[in-house]
Amino acid sequence: MAAFRRMLLYVACVVVMLSKMAAAAASLAKPNCQNWCGNVEIPYPFGTTENCYLNDNYFINCSNSQPLWGNHVVTNISIQGELEILMFIAIQCYQNSSAVPVVDHSFYLPYPTVTISNTKNKLVGIGCDTYASLSAYQNNEPYFLACSSTCQSLMNVVNGSCNFHGCCQIEIPTGLKNFTLEAGSNYNHTNVSKFNPCSSAFVAKKDEFKFSSDYLGKMPAPDINDTFPMVLDWVIGTYETCETARSKPDYVCGQNTSSCDNPPEGVDGYRCKCKEGYEGNPYLHDGCQDINECLQVPKPCHAKAKCTNTGGSFSCTCRKDYKGDGKMNGTGCSPKVSHFKNIIIALIAISIGLSALFVVGSSVYCGLKRKRLFKLKEKFFEQNGGFLLQQKLSNDRTSMEVAKIFSAEELEKATNNYDESRVLGQGSFGTVYRGILPDNNQVAIKKSKLCDQSQIEQFINEVIVLTQINHRNVVKLLGCCLETEVPLLVYECITNGTLSAHIHDKVLSSSLSWRKRLKIAADTAGALAYLHFSTSMPIIHRDVKPANILLDNNYTAKVSDFGTSRLVPLDQTQLTTLVKGTLGYLDPEYFHSSQLTEKSDVYSFGVVVAELLTGKKALSFDRPESDRSLAVIFSSAVKEDRLHQILEDHIVSDGNINEINKVAKLVMQCLCVRGEDRPNMKEVAMELEGLRSMDQKHQLGKVDLYTKEAECLVTPPAQYSFSINGVNNDDSSTSATMGYESMRNQDLKPLILNSGR
Ligand SMILES: *[C@@H]1O[C@H](CO)[C@@H](O)[C@H](O)[C@H]1NC(C)=O
Ligand SMILES: *[C@@H]1O[C@H](CO)[C@@H](O)[C@H](O)[C@H]1NC(C)=O
Ligand SMILES: *[C@@H]1O[C@H](CO)[C@@H](O)[C@H](O)[C@H]1NC(C)=O
Ligand SMILES: *[C@@H]1O[C@H](CO)[C@@H](O)[C@H](O)[C@H]1NC(C)=O
Ligand SMILES: *[C@@H]1O[C@H](CO)[C@@H](O)[C@H](O)[C@H]1NC(C)=O
Ligand SMILES: *[C@@H]1O[C@H](CO)[C@@H](O)[C@H](O)[C@H]1NC(C)=O
Ligand SMILES: *[C@@H]1O[C@H](CO)[C@@H](O)[C@H](O)[C@H]1NC(C)=O
Ligand SMILES: *[C@@H]1O[C@H](CO)[C@@H](O)[C@H](O)[C@H]1NC(C)=O
Ligand SMILES: *[C@@H]1O[C@H](CO)[C@@H](O)[C@H](O)[C@H]1NC(C)=O
Ligand SMILES: *[C@@H]1O[C@H](CO)[C@@H](O)[C@H](O)[C@H]1NC(C)=O
Repeated sequence: MAAFRRMLLYVACVVVMLSKMAAAAASLAKPNCQNWCGNVEIPYPFGTTENCYLNDNYFINCSNSQPLWGNHVVTNISIQGELEILMFIAIQCYQNSSAVPVVDHSFYLPYPTVTISNTKNKLVGIGCDTYASLSAYQNNEPYFLACSSTCQSLMNVVNGSCNFHGCCQIEIPTGLKNFTLEAGSNYNHTNVSKFNPCSSAFVAKKDEFKFSSDYLGKMPAPDINDTFPMVLDWVIGTYETCETARSKPDYVCGQNTSSCDNPPEGVDGYRCKCKEGYEGNPYLHDGCQDINECLQVPKPCHAKAKCTNTGGSFSCTCRKDYKGDGKMNGTGCSPKVSHFKNIIIALIAISIGLSALFVVGSSVYCGLKRKRLFKLKEKFFEQNGGFLLQQKLSNDRTSMEVAKIFSAEELEKATNNYDESRVLGQGSFGTVYRGILPDNNQVAIKKSKLCDQSQIEQFINEVIVLTQINHRNVVKLLGCCLETEVPLLVYECITNGTLSAHIHDKVLSSSLSWRKRLKIAADTAGALAYLHFSTSMPIIHRDVKPANILLDNNYTAKVSDFGTSRLVPLDQTQLTTLVKGTLGYLDPEYFHSSQLTEKSDVYSFGVVVAELLTGKKALSFDRPESDRSLAVIFSSAVKEDRLHQILEDHIVSDGNINEINKVAKLVMQCLCVRGEDRPNMKEVAMELEGLRSMDQKHQLGKVDLYTKEAECLVTPPAQYSFSINGVNNDDSSTSATMGYESMRNQDLKPLILNSGR
């Protein structure tokens, strides 16, 4: 739990760090300086007040809430080195063929730290007797650029076409700075002034200007300055390069997370940029902050990978059960095993986790919202489910020996890589292998069948049920392994096989004496009574049959296979469930009503004891239809007083016929059609224990349950003598399990898993 909390704290701190970073990234201005002017963000080296800008070249006059750079309105400043301003239009106008222009504006931009962006602008001239000129300096040498346009009348100008008829345009070379923009006329607009009095020249952002003949007729008011947006490239330093600037004291890209960047070819000066993986303002001390790639969209790591942010980079680590480099661009993560584990862990986490969540929830104090926490916790549960399960198993069940979480390798080694020779048994649930642990202890390892949802549920069910139980006649769960494609359960190894094998094998059954049989019946009854009455929540086994009763070398019975078991909350005496069980042992009342009670186990137990007495299978399709069910055979034999005909021959002797009759009567009571007529498991267990001790001490017991002679209907109703095709009951390991959905499924909330759908 401590580690878990530590992780949460760590996450909380990361979140705090991130929000700090976000705040830092939000401001590109110098600390305590105005970040915005109007709707233009002002990044350092630009600034609006003293000490906020690098030098006068980067001063932005914001006194009217409109950013002015010199006398140009600024519309955008990018940290990458672009400055967008509204540049005036140079204009020259003649009237009445006068010799002198009536309007003549030219513009001059002397700033040494900006050049005209050659990629984003063009030089445009408009007029019918016009040239547009740009006098500038390139590499400290004068540079002149001009285009001219003429037209005889408005007839030969084309809207949208700037082709030297009324309009001219020309690309701008790199590196022009300190420029003068002028509009001029070759013939003082003689002959054209009637329809075109003015020449105009401007540098315009490409695509911002579309020529129209309307421009030609315009005679602007003398005091109106028209503007066009233009883009300037700004740099630091004049006639410097990174190489020359680095050694100088005024070099600004000082921090190790920012680096010097030479601007495009032909532009002098230098720029700063954040190193890869960092963002922010490289001109500020500590301005470049690490980018948390892990928070980016789209995510850089595969959904099954853990993303770790590092300075300037990130790494992806596939989760435990996945392989690959984890990168979205790379190999991603592919499952080493199925999603099985996550599903199991999530489900177990839900069932055991609520209290853990509560504890953790109350101990987190970093001010995080509960909702976010919940999500985080879910994630951690998923990631560290094994750890949590281990804690649950070791902490919560103090009465139980500590169940262990085994590694896949351990169990592989123990079973000699699931060698065929190690198979102990096989059933609908999966396969049981014999394993030998490094300490030479034998274990039984149950490997469920491949990812079928119902198997997962049974598996979880079994883990949960078994962790509640500690009884000498219940097979002990030693641990489990969640690392493999299918979950593995590790049990104590019961070496002597199933009761079913002992009853139905000729050789084995001959050595199964009456005393042994009585002991097995009493053991089993004791285990069931324990399940019904002594656990914190009653457990109904639901599939009591000889195949699920294991014997050790002393013929001590161990009840196993809790795959279909149910925990019954104390305030509920019956549960409505999907009918599950094995034909022949299935309680007819439960079969018809779907009402699951402990008495269903009593019925099944009755059939088991009948099987012990007679050696006959509970259900055999080899027998005539009327005799298929052992319960029917047994009860009619007892009623017709011919029990001796069906008893296993070798168990009867003069000394025990009395006992056998008593047990047979007890069986009859267990087989009562109405559950309430049946004794409960505690009574049955006491009865059998009584008989056993009597058997040992040759004295009469006092418990006389069967003498009550409670009358009840024993023969199951005819409908129960179902005929199902294809049920193969010969193979004792395949149980003919059947189920149907109850039509009366009440809205009971079962404590654990619903075995139905
Ligand atoms: C800023 O511009 C305003 C006019 O918009 C002008 O009056 C003021 O002197 C300028 N301030 C500076 C520091 O140049
Ligand atoms: C400023 O320029 C940047 C990059 O050139 C652009 O992404 C942004 O939209 C511009 N902002 C405005 C207000 O024009
Ligand atoms: C131009 O000529 C018009 C008449 O055609 C006259 O009204 C106007 O005053 C003249 N303007 C100038 C500046 O000579
Ligand atoms: C050009 O378009 C304007 C409207 O934008 C229109 O008034 C003018 O007559 C057009 N000129 C030509 C030559 O098509
Ligand atoms: C800008 O150009 C003018 C001439 O047009 C020149 O006198 C001045 O020194 C130049 N300034 C810079 C900084 O180059
Ligand atoms: C244009 O006007 C100038 C005086 O501003 C004059 O010297 C020149 O000869 C004129 N050119 C023409 C073609 O009229
Ligand atoms: C103006 O028109 C006159 C007469 O049509 C012509 O002689 C003269 O060359 C023209 N001037 C220009 C500059 O086209
Ligand atoms: C137009 O530009 C000129 C030259 O820069 C300037 O003197 C004048 O004040 C400007 N007029 C307006 C209305 O902006
Ligand atoms: C930058 O320098 C600081 C100390 O000067 C150091 O702690 C940090 O690790 C450096 N970062 C990088 C990315 O080199
Ligand atoms: C990774 O993929 C993204 C698009 O998802 C792409 O922009 C990026 O260049 C790729 N990087 C590498 C190293 O392939």
